[in-house]
Amino acid sequence: MNRGISAPYLTAINGIKEYNAVRSERDGKKPSAFVLTLGCQQNEADSEKITGMALSMGYTLSDSPEGTDLIVVNTCAIREHAEQRALSLIGQYKHLKAVNPDIIIAVCGCMTARSERADLLKNSYPYVDIVFGTASLQRLPEFIYDRINGSKRIFAEDDDYSVAEGLPIKRESSFKAWVSVMYGCNNFCSYCIVPYVRGRERSRAPEDIIGEVRDIVGEGYKDITLLGQNVNSYGSETGGKFDFPGLLESLAKIDGDFTLRFMTSHPKDVSDRLISVMAENERVAKHFHLPLQSGSDKVLREMNRKYDSQKYLGTVEKLRAAMPDIAITSDIIVGFPGESEEDFEMTLEIVKKAEFDMIYPFIYSPREGTPAARREDMIPDAVKSERFDRLILLQNELSKKKNEAWLGRTVKVLVDGMSKKGNGLYTGRTDGGKLVHINSEKVKIGEFTEIKITGADTYALYSDEK
Ligand code: SAH
Ligand code: SF4
Ligand code: F3S
Repeated sequence: MNRGISAPYLTAINGIKEYNAVRSERDGKKPSAFVLTLGCQQNEADSEKITGMALSMGYTLSDSPEGTDLIVVNTCAIREHAEQRALSLIGQYKHLKAVNPDIIIAVCGCMTARSERADLLKNSYPYVDIVFGTASLQRLPEFIYDRINGSKRIFAEDDDYSVAEGLPIKRESSFKAWVSVMYGCNNFCSYCIVPYVRGRERSRAPEDIIGEVRDIVGEGYKDITLLGQNVNSYGSETGGKFDFPGLLESLAKIDGDFTLRFMTSHPKDVSDRLISVMAENERVAKHFHLPLQSGSDKVLREMNRKYDSQKYLGTVEKLRAAMPDIAITSDIIVGFPGESEEDFEMTLEIVKKAEFDMIYPFIYSPREGTPAARREDMIPDAVKSERFDRLILLQNELSKKKNEAWLGRTVKVLVDGMSKKGNGLYTGRTDGGKLVHINSEKVKIGEFTEIKITGADTYALYSDEK
């Protein structure tokens, strides 16, 4: 079930707007908000709603926490390091409360859904005013309104996992956009905390997504990434009334000059139809992010991934047969409990066979509450790091080779920023998502351009033709 904007939301927005108008008058400047985003693209997309709400509440946006009136920290829980980082950053805001007792400090995102972390924030971070989970995002104005009206510190439990539509979005970029198509995850990979902190899968209605994409294409957005933990199961809770290939096909029909991307796909259910919709629609970027996690069938089974190395390689083959230029990227975890040297070598083997354009390697981090974290055959840190280094070394070689294959070709790129490297003046991204340093004065940020690739290394492509 989807829901729109609620009456308490509107009351809170209006109440805070009035409160902020009075303070603006008093202080001669508008109150400001600082939003810090940790974690993945889902959190970035959520933060764009938080900044959208902050603007509706009459705050201006600040890019530093100093001197602001509202701080929102959007946390991640995927690995221990992510949580430690969040806690240490929150720790740095203590002195801001001492300087300005009216400041409101809110912490949200995946880490707050872990009761031990929520308790820690409650007991050891007394200057944190509000703690709320990802399913309560749209209630932020209510929490702030209650707090400025003198309520106790707020620790909200996520109790309503329906999809909230209609929240304002302040996008970071004027040409790249995230569009969430679904929330949550049902897969319960044995190492992963996401299903516990983001709840079960729920999909947005296709008409809401199509409407949003049509609007942003109309505003000039050029690069649109559809987001979900496992986009292949989009619509599965509707018993097949709608599905991801169908959604992608409808979106690709929208008029305009734009590219569609999506992430993430689970290898267990990449359908032939998805591959053909990608191949047949020019607007769908020829990039597939397909997390492998491990090349050992034993480890994959223990990870509860529901595919084996053969099925994985079969999908890679199908993708390459349908789209010879496709870029394939992956996530890999090293040091899963019980991973033997042989298991790890199987991962290296499949990495070689799959010829990924790039990988995101991760060292296994036990997450309390997940089945893998209860195992007693943990891999020593030194072994994990050694495997991690070997994997990177291998992939660096392969990435270089994959990038060099583009030498001499003319490709379409979206120019997306200024380059700090080599001769480059600008940076851009190819259809496959590869970074290109462009040495030309003729291109413009936010626009597509055709350039010739004249250089390549492990990390990037280069275009040196003026
Ligand atoms: N939904 C996506 C990925 C979400 S998390 C998918 O299924 O592919 C992004 C990546 O973090 C995962 O692909 C995995 O490689 C990594 N990851 C998740 N849990 C982890 C853990 N406990 N330790 C190390 N890496 C982990
Ligand atoms: Fe985590 Fe697996 Fe869900 Fe991805 S599919 S979010 S790795 S449980
Ligand atoms: Fe993303 Fe981290 Fe949550 S990776 S889904 S922000 S745990």
